[in-house]
Amino acid sequence: MALTRIGVFLLAVAGMAAGQVSDAPKHGADGGLLYPSDYREWVFLSSGLGMTYGPAASPGNPRFDNVFVTRAAYKGFLQSGTWPEGTMFVLEIRSATSEGSINKGGHFQTGLAAIEVEVKEKGVWTFYSFGSGDVAVGKAFGPKESCYACHGTNGAVDNTFVQFYPTLLPIAKAKGTLKAAK
Ligand code: HEC
Repeated sequence: MALTRIGVFLLAVAGMAAGQVSDAPKHGADGGLLYPSDYREWVFLSSGLGMTYGPAASPGNPRFDNVFVTRAAYKGFLQSGTWPEGTMFVLEIRSATSEGSINKGGHFQTGLAAIEVEVKEKGVWTFYSFGSGDVAVGKAFGPKESCYACHGTNGAVDNTFVQFYPTLLPIAKAKGTLKAAK
């Protein structure tokens, strides 16, 4: 038993050494998504200011959002212009403020307001909520939530807003994977 465990551990270490970092989505017993707590080590795609929708919107004092995607998915996109199986995104929404420290007229990010996650598994996209980053296992949004309609209709590549990710838009154009007129 102990030997088997050591064997599994060694295999895992060998896998990591070979560059196979596993950042695939992980699920709990009830099917919920485990909080991907290392998402700040993934690939950063872009920030938006005042681009938040629905309950996360804050019209008087627009919030920032930061988009991260898993490393394996990013590499897959560079090669094909499409998102591979197991792709996972984090949309991190943060409050904004100004006039702090030396800053007078600019806007900078402060506390976490919401964490939303989107995964592609078995070819299907599912959205999950993690509250304001204080939820260990995220519940899937049901198919009638606005996420699915807006992303499915307006996302430039598949279900995602590649039109707002400056390093990926040229890739999608070059690979011919952009939906028309997005
Ligand atoms: C009215 C349209 C709209 C709705 C509704 C919406 N989103 Fe988005 N979402 C966007 C846009 C635009 C972006 C691009 C990033 C940005 O805002 O800076 C985005 C980006 C994302 C991303 C980053 C990956 C990607 O697809 O580009 C995630 C994750 C995400 N949204 C989750 C959600 C969840 C969860 C819901 C439902 C609770 C939701 N969104 C509802 C428009 C929408």
